[in-house]
Amino acid sequence: MNPLGEVLYLSRSDVENLDIPMDEIITIVEKAFLEKAQGKTEAPPKPGIHPRKDSFIHAMPAYIPRMKSAGLKWVSGFPDNRKRNLPYITGLLILNDLETGLPICIMDCSWITAKRTGAATAVAAKRLARENSRVLSILGCGVQGRSNLEALIVVCQNLERVRAYDIDRKNLNKYVNEMTAKYGLEVVATDSPRKALEGCDIVVTAGPILKHPKQTIEASWFPNGGFACPLDFDSFWKPNAMQSMDKFYTDDKEQLNYYKKQGYFLDVPEVYADLGEVISGEKLGREDSNERIMSMNLGLAIEDMATAIYVYKHAKKKKVGMWLPL
Ligand SMILES: NC(=O)c1ccc[n+]([C@@H]2O[C@H](COP(=O)([O-])OP(=O)(O)OC[C@H]3O[C@@H](n4cnc5c(N)ncnc54)[C@H](O)[C@@H]3O)[C@@H](O)[C@H]2O)c1
Repeated sequence: MNPLGEVLYLSRSDVENLDIPMDEIITIVEKAFLEKAQGKTEAPPKPGIHPRKDSFIHAMPAYIPRMKSAGLKWVSGFPDNRKRNLPYITGLLILNDLETGLPICIMDCSWITAKRTGAATAVAAKRLARENSRVLSILGCGVQGRSNLEALIVVCQNLERVRAYDIDRKNLNKYVNEMTAKYGLEVVATDSPRKALEGCDIVVTAGPILKHPKQTIEASWFPNGGFACPLDFDSFWKPNAMQSMDKFYTDDKEQLNYYKKQGYFLDVPEVYADLGEVISGEKLGREDSNERIMSMNLGLAIEDMATAIYVYKHAKKKKVGMWLPL
């Protein structure tokens, strides 16, 4: 027996095949935000390196004592991967033992990144979107376009139509066909961001993150009473559109400020609250049906570690994965 013990390795398909349902991930992510609001988590803003134009590799550590979860996600976003038939987002996540610090699990982080990001959007939408939201606009019909729709269906019971836009017509058509078949909603392909936003209650933008974005969405395209959740930083939204919001939220103020110092988010309005403060009731969510609301969700390591420990426990219970010597 190796004196250092073993780690459980979970490949991408190991994690995917556990098939943990979205409603459970939403509950987990919500609990993680509550822990954060009470100051009971540790998660410094993510440092990154940038080997290619508009690429990133981020280190995302977090510790959530109540969930007994500590670890690091090492995640890349490379926009040109699509040309190589590889996913934009890839990476690994390591969980550590709380007593010894030894690694206990190494897993592919693509599934977690997709699902927990959708779950965070859903957690925000529960408090910030109108209760009877019916029309969802998805701009960027890739992995996040899919997982965000999956999560929003869980919390928005009245959702009946998706207006989708993607710069790549093939991706758009594939999305429309797949999502229509999967959820039985009306999924409509649109040929411009402006048309995608027509009559929307909720809009999720999920194109690539660009350091010098060609922002397109104007304030006048976004209807009063709408809720916007950009996942691609401010790449899609013109300054006037962001500044037209009545309330501007984020998932973590410290992280937003950290990015501001690096030259991102120069035109965003003042943050009203972060999601933890809204979930805990410390700050208000939506107050009336006309408010224009945006939550700039940057993605937090607490969402990853909360989901990862759940995945790890399920994998051990189901005897999935491969034990490797350290
Ligand atoms: N905030 C978070 O927590 C979080 C987490 C994961 C990913 N993300 C971000 O979400 C975004 C999407 O990630 P993904 O994994 O879904 O990528 P993906 O490559 O699977 O999908 C991106 C889609 O956007 C389309 N696209 C590219 N440029 C576009 C444009 N100008 N207009 C419309 N569509 C365009 C592409 O054709 C593709 O279909 C990325 O910016 C990623 O960094 C954010």
